[in-house]
Amino acid sequence: FPGSFDRAAFPPPRLDARPVDREAWIAAFRMVRDETEQRAAPLSPEDQQVQSMEDASPTKWHRAHTTWFFEQFLLCALRPDYRIYDERLHYLFNSYYVQAGPRQPRFMRGMITRPTAMETQGYRAHVDRAIEALLREASDQALETILPILEIGLYHEQQHQELMLTDILHAFAQNPLGPAYDEAWRWPASEGGKGRVELSRGITQIGHDGEGFAFDNESPRHDVLVLPATIDRALVTNAQWLAFIADGGYARAELWLSDGWVKLQSEGWEAPGYWRRTGDGWSSMTLGGISPIDPAQPVTHISYYEADAFARWSGRDLPTEAEWEIAARDGLLGDAFGHVWQWTRSAYGAYPGYRPLPGALGEYNGKFMSNQYVLRGSSVATSEGHARVGYRNFFYAHQRWQFTGLRLADARV
Ligand code: AVJ
Ligand code: FE
Repeated sequence: FPGSFDRAAFPPPRLDARPVDREAWIAAFRMVRDETEQRAAPLSPEDQQVQSMEDASPTKWHRAHTTWFFEQFLLCALRPDYRIYDERLHYLFNSYYVQAGPRQPRFMRGMITRPTAMETQGYRAHVDRAIEALLREASDQALETILPILEIGLYHEQQHQELMLTDILHAFAQNPLGPAYDEAWRWPASEGGKGRVELSRGITQIGHDGEGFAFDNESPRHDVLVLPATIDRALVTNAQWLAFIADGGYARAELWLSDGWVKLQSEGWEAPGYWRRTGDGWSSMTLGGISPIDPAQPVTHISYYEADAFARWSGRDLPTEAEWEIAARDGLLGDAFGHVWQWTRSAYGAYPGYRPLPGALGEYNGKFMSNQYVLRGSSVATSEGHARVGYRNFFYAHQRWQFTGLRLADARV
């Protein structure tokens, strides 16, 4: 379906819109599937094969895993006459769904040289055809079950579109030649934002308001107590980070959480991820190749530990996820979306009364609700139309290969 790419096709219709616009759902499906292939297109089969660390997956694996997701949760589950493309692929491309069967160990994803990148295209095409037929031929009643799962599958594939870029950046960063994913890649222009947003004490609600799609971890909407606080409208920049480095930020144990200090020492951290010394300055690996650090751009590729140490050095705080959401929904934060994900000081956990989806899809978000932190916003790698004010991303405190940054806040009592 080259040529059918239509950005306006996403987001898909609202789930509760009647009558169901089947063609609009098919258009949204095609758009998302095509975006994945467009992101993979600049990459050679060798590029698509490599797994540079356990946290990162090969491009080819992302292309196949997102396909498996539709095959497993829609076609195999709901279409009795579906002809499985190759059932051996289920072991290879199941990521972490214990209820969906055994799977290739995560750190061994880069060892799957077959199917090849070309054969992966065949797998994608087979599932694409079957999903489109399903959407055309299913009864109205069957669509009631199909569409909510299809919708998750679309947002799922977009999550992997972001991971494709962050994972290939990590792979390319291991190459001393510093290859560019896209020579023309640039940071998006800042929308600016000066000063601070004042939040006053009170009870308000956060979480999914029922409008449009949200992942299960954004529900239920619930009361939160907000204490008086301010949040910066601007993101922390590289210029600020350079001052932190110059002031011994990476050498002063008193600024660091113990686990972060251990990580700093074992990894030899002295700057954000991908930074390298060049002459008397710094450059970093980007999707556009190696380029000098731009002091005006938001700092990125920092771990929670670094964000926390920077806030302590500044005599300030990270916002909570509730503070972030309240300020962002009123449009008060600059560069909230599309630049860098922003660490919050909120542990990633269940909202009060949260229940995971039934069955294997219940493993999507809920089982990761320990030992991670919430990030808000979205990044330069996030697909168009994917994020929203209630979106809860989450990573472990030491991870920094995503486009992760921060904004500062001041908590008061
Ligand atoms: C929400 C980005 C942490 O990377 O595991 C992909 C996204 N979930 N497939 C992850 C996800 C299922 C998830 N993060
Ligand atoms: Fe996945």
